[in-house]
Amino acid sequence: MPDRGTRSKMTMHTLRTAALGPWAQAHPVLKAQATLALDLCLPVNPEQILQAPSAGPGRSAKPVLVPHTQLKAKSMATTEGRAMLVHSIAHIELNAIDLALDVVWRFAGMPEAFYTDWVRIAQEEAKHFTLLREHLLTMGFDYGDFPAHNTLWDMAERTQGDLLARIGIVPRTMEARGLDASPGVKNKLISVGDHRAGEILDIILAEEIGHVAAGNRWYRYLCGRRGLDPVSTYAALIAQYDAPKLRPPFNMAARRLAGFEEAELAALS
Ligand SMILES: [Fe+2]
Ligand SMILES: [Fe+2]
Repeated sequence: MPDRGTRSKMTMHTLRTAALGPWAQAHPVLKAQATLALDLCLPVNPEQILQAPSAGPGRSAKPVLVPHTQLKAKSMATTEGRAMLVHSIAHIELNAIDLALDVVWRFAGMPEAFYTDWVRIAQEEAKHFTLLREHLLTMGFDYGDFPAHNTLWDMAERTQGDLLARIGIVPRTMEARGLDASPGVKNKLISVGDHRAGEILDIILAEEIGHVAAGNRWYRYLCGRRGLDPVSTYAALIAQYDAPKLRPPFNMAARRLAGFEEAELAALS
């Protein structure tokens, strides 16, 4: 029979505290592995208020982060050019692991299904990162070999004080932009014969639709709880948080599957 102190420590080990482990892990491959190892059967403890062990998620020294305007693309005809594109997507996926885990530990007071949804999403992001990194290795490169930008994490920081803003903007704007970008990126890579990259992007697109759908579902839940209109609130959030403006072409089919309503799709054009 554990004594009182041990027992309270044991009850403190929850899905939400466990999410802090891979969040704080700096090594990208270990971060992905630790995320995949998270046990969805752990108790959630939605009301627990948690503190992060560090100011931000764990990051290795590479890739070097630069403003996104300093990132230059190279010709897709070269292996290096293709690798740079695959690397940039791998970087987004690594950030997406942290974004999903961050939602799990940082924001208390949601239903248990909210937390398990976001742990599952983090695990899919870890799979996406791993697939892309393994593909990079076959090209003679690794994650960290090219510079990258910090745009996604910047938006996470800006919205860390309000879950409605986080869910309204990160999955429904930043990840939804990934749905829009996917067909063009896939065409670029398969047009130079990289069919494996095309297959990986198909897997990612199918699962990203699910992530944006979860974003839509929980965004509407939060709007409902606060008595807010989802469409006008979204426009207000975009302005308040200076979120990136959405530009065509839009992947309307994927956006419909992800649960955007006709009024929201009409507001895009
Ligand atoms: Fe992903
Ligand atoms: Fe995602």
